[in-house]
Amino acid sequence: MKIGSVLENQETEKRISITPDIVKKYTSLGFEIFLSENYGQHIGINDDEYSKLGVKILKDEKEIIGSSDIIVQLGMLSDDKSSVMREKQILIGVLNPYENKDKLEFLAKKKINLFSLELLPRITRAQSMDILSSQANLAGYKAVIESFANFEKAIPMMMTAAGTIPAAKVLVVGAGVAGLQAIATAKRMGAIVFATDVRMASKEQVESLGGKFLTVEGSENLETEGGYAKEASEDFKLKQEQLLSETLKKIDIVICTALIPGKKAPLIIKDNMINNMQPGSVIYDLAAIQGGNSAFTEVNKTIEENGVKIMGESNILNRLPISASSLYAKNVFNFVDNLLDKKNKKINLNLEDEIIEKTLIK
Ligand code: NAI
Repeated sequence: MKIGSVLENQETEKRISITPDIVKKYTSLGFEIFLSENYGQHIGINDDEYSKLGVKILKDEKEIIGSSDIIVQLGMLSDDKSSVMREKQILIGVLNPYENKDKLEFLAKKKINLFSLELLPRITRAQSMDILSSQANLAGYKAVIESFANFEKAIPMMMTAAGTIPAAKVLVVGAGVAGLQAIATAKRMGAIVFATDVRMASKEQVESLGGKFLTVEGSENLETEGGYAKEASEDFKLKQEQLLSETLKKIDIVICTALIPGKKAPLIIKDNMINNMQPGSVIYDLAAIQGGNSAFTEVNKTIEENGVKIMGESNILNRLPISASSLYAKNVFNFVDNLLDKKNKKINLNLEDEIIEKTLIK
């Protein structure tokens, strides 16, 4: 069996799918590994490090794609690269089926097996493969670090002979995986943390991390069976706006993480709310690429409005690509491992397996 990976679009993606750590694991399953030249160079991993482990480094990326049984990537391959794929080959990655619908349908019709890891069911058995969780966890952490670095006051309360500095107040919007990690990180650094979500289950989780949950009064629980959020009603949005408008007047830093799968991110922090915030406050909008939770958010820019900094990065994971690659590569390995018939050392796409069935693009 052959597995390969080629360079991502270097302008938008610094993470990699096969790290040296994971090479031995693939080898012990019986895989030969092929990577393109300078595959991990940009994050300090030389080709030599891979070669020593038995990886074949090739200059010609189309040769890697054309001859591998499984290709593992982060993002979708360019048209030029995917054009060399043929029937029965497997492509695994974060293929973004909402954005790349036509492209993926075209490849699926050619009987190429496409697995998009953001479609993994949130079940216990899939946890070790769950790229959404591993990456969102790091994103939540890093959003706090970045926003705190751009806040021009201290975060923890400091009592000194010269006087007392009050602790910074943080609001986390959306208490899923990224939001919960943001709460934990901000608490560890001494902030007072508030959070809100449309899923009632998150209240207990927020409180267990020491955050204060802001409940939209009289609201129903907007959670789907799969554990995701439903789109809120106009009535809910109005009540949420009233609640947050008041709270935001005393908040220093807002971390936005609210998403609805397959839809534009909900706009939660409106322009009039920002105008009521204290100058010097910071909003870090992790939902920027999905349209943003905050007014004024622009992808890959820091906008200043009423003295409030609004930060929106397209891929915050590029700011910790080594950690993010390490977890992503392990998630992908666990997914590949589950595709194998170990006894006969061959690939077996068992469509009765919920993990395989749900991630396959038909
Ligand atoms: P996500 O990234 O899709 O959304 C982030 C958060 O934003 C969610 O908590 C969502 O409820 C919230 N949100 C959406 N619209 C909002 C609005 N208008 N106002 C405020 N908040 C809003 O969610 P994520 O982080 O992927 O988590 C989804 C679910 O999956 C959660 O229930 C989580 O606990 C669950 N999960 C289960 C795992 C398992 O293996 N059992 C593993 C990881 C997550």
